[in-house]
Amino acid sequence: MTLYAHGPWTRFKTHFDPNNQEFSISGLVRPQTIDELAPSLTLLKESIERVRGVLYVNVKRLAQMNNTAFHAFARVIVDNCRARPDLQFVIVTSSVVGWATRKFNRLSQVEPNIRVEQYDNAFYPGQSFLEEGGFIPILRTQTKMTWRHEREILPRHGMRPGIAMADICCGIGDFALLVQKEFNPSRIVALDHSKSSLAYARQVAEEFDVRGIEYTYGDASEMLLEDDQFDFVTCRHSLQIFNRPALILKEMYRICKPGGRVYITNEKISHCLGEPRGEAIQWTYNELSKLFAHFKMDLEMGPKNHRYLIEAGFQNIRAESFMVTNLDDSQAFADVVQSWENTFAGDMSQQRGDSPEFVEQFRRGFQDHIFAALHPKGYAGWPIWVASGQKPL
Ligand SMILES: C[S@@+](CC[C@H](N)C(=O)[O-])C[C@H]1O[C@@H](n2cnc3c(N)ncnc32)[C@H](O)[C@@H]1O
Repeated sequence: MTLYAHGPWTRFKTHFDPNNQEFSISGLVRPQTIDELAPSLTLLKESIERVRGVLYVNVKRLAQMNNTAFHAFARVIVDNCRARPDLQFVIVTSSVVGWATRKFNRLSQVEPNIRVEQYDNAFYPGQSFLEEGGFIPILRTQTKMTWRHEREILPRHGMRPGIAMADICCGIGDFALLVQKEFNPSRIVALDHSKSSLAYARQVAEEFDVRGIEYTYGDASEMLLEDDQFDFVTCRHSLQIFNRPALILKEMYRICKPGGRVYITNEKISHCLGEPRGEAIQWTYNELSKLFAHFKMDLEMGPKNHRYLIEAGFQNIRAESFMVTNLDDSQAFADVVQSWENTFAGDMSQQRGDSPEFVEQFRRGFQDHIFAALHPKGYAGWPIWVASGQKPL
């Protein structure tokens, strides 16, 4: 059951999902009087009557809520805590709406049956490796290498001047910056869940005097962006790090305009290659793929792009692949591989509990890849899979 409320100050949705025992409130809840909330409060009461055990109250997309509304919803929850001591209330917040965690925490202090969980504290297993400042050098060097290919590829997938675009999981924002300079879109929103990456992105944009990019803190699986807004929605090298990429694609579909396109890139890391020392290189990248799988990330996703886009409902799929090589720029290639070794054979391998012997051999493959990249007759490659799909009109 879903209810929509629209008024001069309010624009929100309440929904009850009996299968997940979840009541959700999203949007801007700023009623002038409590009467405006009556249908939603009734829905909450009915939801409570229908569940046993735990009722999840999902406020992950609750952008704003005034005190009138907060007290009205809180009253129903607190009263029912007392009337139904068998029931637990778990209020699920997101760091994206940080005020909600603080505000609802007050309820958990007065009622032991109310618990507040900020779900994106640990919403995917590899999060700590990929959202910390240490990842910045990797992203910088990677984008430097991929851009020379992508600037040619992008127009084939719908990039053109004047469009409204969103880059989801934008990292340190280099891609948005390059797009802004090269293609001059009318609007760019660049969203990420790493505050340190966004701070870096804003600083770089300022240094280069590039204006107009809307760097936004957000969660790609629960975006606060509205439906049908963008002509082009990109997500590069990121679906592969989520254990449920379909959730992100669903969100990208939602914010894309009908007729617009969603563009994704992913890797198949075990296909990285190099000569000389091909065998040792191959061994390390096979192991790298397994290391990511250990943290529930699929670095083999590239060739699956096509399938994911079809399953998400897109049409007119276009897919291609390209190879970043040392022939583009041997030192930059070596820098990318060095940054991989630092993080993957460093923190990540350590966290899995790898033996010193394993780590030594693992590191050797990266060094051999660098050797191949810098060798006067060597060849080193990193393949990337690109695909885009159109949201039906
Ligand atoms: C591998 S990086 C790719 C960054 C960028 N697209 C690029 O190609 O350089 C993955 C990015 O996803 C971001 N991320 C992870 N989980 C996210 C989430 N739930 N919502 C938004 N961004 C997220 C990380 O902070 C990181 O910047």
